[in-house]
Amino acid sequence: MVLLVVGLGLAVVEVAGLRSPENPYILCSRDVAKGSEAAKKLREQAVTAPIHFYQLDVTNDEEITALVDYVDKIHGRVDVSVNNAGILRGMDMPPDAPASALRAAYTEALNVNVTSVAVVTHAFMPVLRKAPNPKVINVTSGLGCITNVLTPGKRMARACPRVAENDRAAVASGGAGAAEGGSSVRFYICNPGQGAESIVRIVEDDEGMYEGGMYWEFEDGR
Ligand SMILES: NC(=O)c1ccc[n+]([C@@H]2O[C@H](COP(=O)([O-])OP(=O)(O)OC[C@H]3O[C@@H](n4cnc5c(N)ncnc54)[C@H](OP(=O)(O)O)[C@@H]3O)[C@@H](O)[C@H]2O)c1
Ligand SMILES: *[C@@H]1O[C@H](CO)[C@@H](O)[C@H](O)[C@H]1NC(C)=O
Ligand SMILES: *[C@@H]1O[C@H](CO)[C@@H](O)[C@H](O)[C@H]1NC(C)=O
Repeated sequence: MVLLVVGLGLAVVEVAGLRSPENPYILCSRDVAKGSEAAKKLREQAVTAPIHFYQLDVTNDEEITALVDYVDKIHGRVDVSVNNAGILRGMDMPPDAPASALRAAYTEALNVNVTSVAVVTHAFMPVLRKAPNPKVINVTSGLGCITNVLTPGKRMARACPRVAENDRAAVASGGAGAAEGGSSVRFYICNPGQGAESIVRIVEDDEGMYEGGMYWEFEDGR
């Protein structure tokens, strides 16, 4: 199994690499120094699986095409592609910001979060098809689940309006446990290891148990 992990994905490679050290992992970052450092850090954390770092900006079509060719040449196939890259833009616009600034910010976010997921997936399709049971995993969040956000009583349903008001910092820094925002609002965001666990379960599923879209919540270790 050859896994391609786009975005930081440090925890995904760590959890999967410790569990299945026989697989090679491809870790991508825009930044050569940051990406090599991440790969080095993983090796120091006793991840014995081969970790290959390749530079990739998911919004750069030439880089995508070059990476597809390179990965095909070196690894011959990709079994799992994890689309994990995402950016948050346009939240801190001052009231007097021009319309063009907001448009540019949203366009940039949608390019990374949405357009590039489709483009990277499309470009890697020939290499994915060389694997016996290829998978594409698109990472989102509880806030990306419309049912979850619009159903009264669901956790994110309460969190959402507060995000618009004053919890931007909590969202931006989410991940390391539940961040406390406002008076009674809590963000039930799992830690990186738990988030990675969801992804690694899909990676390792041979039975087709997790077909399609799904949303995971971790509560009291369950
Ligand atoms: N953190 C949470 O609590 C949480 C909760 C639910 C869901 N998620 C989801 O998990 C995913 C990762 O979140 P995270 O918290 O790990 O975010 P993060 O720390 O901001 O990492 C996202 C990574 O995306 C990469 N990236 C951004 N623009 C890119 C580009 N143009 N090309 C290639 N890579 C690019 C960056 O890598 P480089 O800078 O190395 O290029 C960055 O490390 C996101 O999809 C997010 O929605 C996170
Ligand atoms: C893009 O993804 C980030 C998480 O990486 C999220 O905070 C943001 O809301 C998303 N924006 C859009 C427009 O999808
Ligand atoms: C993941 O994104 C790709 C590209 O947009 C899409 O074709 C695919 O259906 C998505 N997968 C899921 C499970 O949503």
